[in-house]
This record gives sequence, C-alpha cells and structure tokens, in this order.
Amino acid sequence: MAETLTVVDKLKTEFRLTDKTMAHIALDFKTAMLTALAKGSSPLKMLPSYLPLPSGKEAGLYLALDFGGTNIRVLLVELFGDGCYTVHAHRQTPLKDSHGRYDYTSPQTTAEELFAFIAGQIGKIRPSGKDILLGHTFSFPSRQTTLSDAYLITWTKELQTAGVENRNVTDLLTAALKHHRLTRIHPIAVINDTVGTLLTSAYTNPHTDIGSICGTGHNTAYLEPSSSTLINMESGNFNQLPLTSYDAALDAASEKPGAQLLEKCVAGHYLGELLRLIVIEMVESGLLPEMQQNKNVRVPYAITAKELSLLITDRATELNGGLSSRERIILKEIAILLRTRSAQLTAATFYGALCHIDPNHESRHHIAIDGSLFEKMPGYADALTATLNAFDGRLAGKVSIGLTKGGSGIGAAIAAAIAGK
Ligand code: GLC
Repeated sequence: MAETLTVVDKLKTEFRLTDKTMAHIALDFKTAMLTALAKGSSPLKMLPSYLPLPSGKEAGLYLALDFGGTNIRVLLVELFGDGCYTVHAHRQTPLKDSHGRYDYTSPQTTAEELFAFIAGQIGKIRPSGKDILLGHTFSFPSRQTTLSDAYLITWTKELQTAGVENRNVTDLLTAALKHHRLTRIHPIAVINDTVGTLLTSAYTNPHTDIGSICGTGHNTAYLEPSSSTLINMESGNFNQLPLTSYDAALDAASEKPGAQLLEKCVAGHYLGELLRLIVIEMVESGLLPEMQQNKNVRVPYAITAKELSLLITDRATELNGGLSSRERIILKEIAILLRTRSAQLTAATFYGALCHIDPNHESRHHIAIDGSLFEKMPGYADALTATLNAFDGRLAGKVSIGLTKGGSGIGAAIAAAIAGK
C-alpha cells in the first residue's frame, strides 16, 4: 500500500503543472504564434481560413458536411438571419463499419472511394430539384488557397485513407458529386471544425474570437486582429511541453511519432491510453494486483475517455468492477491527474492566444468550445475556466468560456452563406 502511494505521489509530481510551468507554456505558445505569423519555423501552422466573423445576418438553406473523424454528418440547415437557425435533417454515418464490412479510413482505401461514399451520403439528404450551396467542415490540417480550396497537409487522428494528402478536397468532393449526378449541389466553402465552432458562436455572440475543440481531437482557431481573418492554428501540434515517460511511450507507438504532441497530452482519443500505460507499469511492478487479469489493460486504446469520466465519478465500470476500494481510489486519482493536466495545458494555450490578441486585456472575449471532454467530462470545464482565470486577475468578467454544441456542422452552413454572398 505504502509503495503504491509513493508511485501515485511520483505521478503527481510528473503530471501536475506548477503556475510557473504554465506561464512558460503560455508564453512559448504566444511566441510560436508570432513566429508562424512572421513565416518562421513554428509548430503552429496558422492556416488562414479566408473568412471574417459572420455578421449574424446570414440567411438561407444550406447543406453542411461535417467530416472530422471516423463519422461523417450531413445536415440540412436553415439560417434565419437573426442569430437563429434550425436543422431540418441530419444523418450520421461511420466511415468504418463496426462489423468490418467496409473501412474508408484505412490505407487500403483510395481518396476516390472515400469521397464516393461521402457523396452518396449527401445524396440521401439533399432537397430534390433545387440548387443548393454546401459548406464542408474538414477537420484536418489543410492549406487553403481560397475559401473553397483546401489541400490536406497530413492526416491526423489516425486516419490513413490513401491519396488524399496534398490533394484539393473540394475537387475530390465535386468530382464525386458529379459522378453521383448530384450536380445541383455546389461545394462553396471548406473550413476547420474550430473555425466552424467560432463562426456558430459569433453568429449570436459578437465577443467570440476564439473557437476550440476539446474532444476526441484538440485544436484552436482565433480571429487575427491585424487581418480580421479567422486562423486555424492547428495547435494540437504545439510541442514545447513538459512530457512524461508515458507521453513519450504513447507518442513512440502512435501513427506519427513526434507530431501532434499537445493533442496527444490533452485530447480524448489519447487520455484513456495514457491511463492504460500508467496502469500497465504499475501492474508490471506488482502493484494493482487485481488488475493483472483485466483484459482491457493489455489492449492498446481499449480504455476510452468515457471510461476516464466514469472513473472520475467512481461509478462501476468494466475497468474497476472487481477492484478493491483502494485500487479504485488510485485509478480515480490517476484519471483526475490526466483530466486536470489536459485542462491546464489547454488553458495555457488560450492564455497565450489572448495575450497576442489583446495584450493589455482590455476587451471582452468569448471562447467557444465544442467537444466531448468539455461537454461531458466531470470537472473538465470548471478546471479549464479556473486555470485560465488564475493566469491574470484582469481576465475575470472579461473572458467567458462556453459550450457551442454542434458548432462544426452549423459553422459549415454559415461559411457557405458568407461565401455565397
Ligand atoms: C485534429 C485536426 C484539427 C482538428 C482537431 C479537432 O487536431 O488536426 O484540424 O481541428 O483534430 O477535431
């Protein structure tokens, strides 16, 4: 018991971030933003979206395609021009069948096959007999040349479909729609989900100038004051971070070692795996003996962020079902450490961004967030807000953080409306 506690204390010293460390991270993040804006070498890609903030008056009926991971969503959205909107129809489809019948995310699938499947899904939602503009939320690092042309730089979130990197995803989508005789659907805008979240919140709240995803993946966009353009930072690739041996092990075994280090520390896709790597080490040192037989502990990525949430509230899960209360307390402590570090690192990047946008903290700002961690993980939103406020007393009352649910899909419709003007 004493030995296990020592291990937990050691984990605390590794995963807890001091105020000083967080201040460093925030400053390094701000410096990385400035370096990238000046076209220097930086972990941040700072990709321009060619979009300003919406006026709130955008109106009309639009199709939205939300492609951000292993599920795609197609929505038929009506914007009313007064900050209100309604979703008339929506359809969610996995790109990877759970029974193994198809997998459009694997390296054995081609770009054409993937987009043909997507076009087929769009065809099931479109209103017949009318021309309609489509906004596409494509939530992967993409170099844009115009609001409607985006070239995938590199897959993230473990997607591997062949032949999409370096290609124009709007051309791929347009060709696939044509093939399906869906020529009345016009892809006109392509955006990142962080930009979509920002647009959706700004449609009703003009103080919104930061949009972020805190879910399976992590990334942040903001309104660059010098150009009034929304910029997708691809902040998940930020890498000036105090990494633990578990982060290094996770990274080494990932699809792209060295890439997306912030995302690997904070995003839902990885938090369960970090917990598993810690637990494995404890099991192998003879600690946590009851976990020895647990099959999830041996399978990479078998532990999910949802499981972490259950551990935090200590409700029985498959993982802790047969455990003693001592072991449950330990798992809960580890889960809380991982959740808190994720919220702290994210808050530090928000503070870095705010220091660039408004160095003297004079104006009001709203940070719009979507994603399962922020929405559902117990204590996550509170830890994020508390950490951000603790950076500087002047932020209180000036900076708000809130959930913008489904912003990535709605944002595509708003982007299409702006583009169609
Ligand atoms: C990954 C993608 C990024 C996206 C984020 C959240 O970090 O690279 O483009 O915004 O996931 O979905």
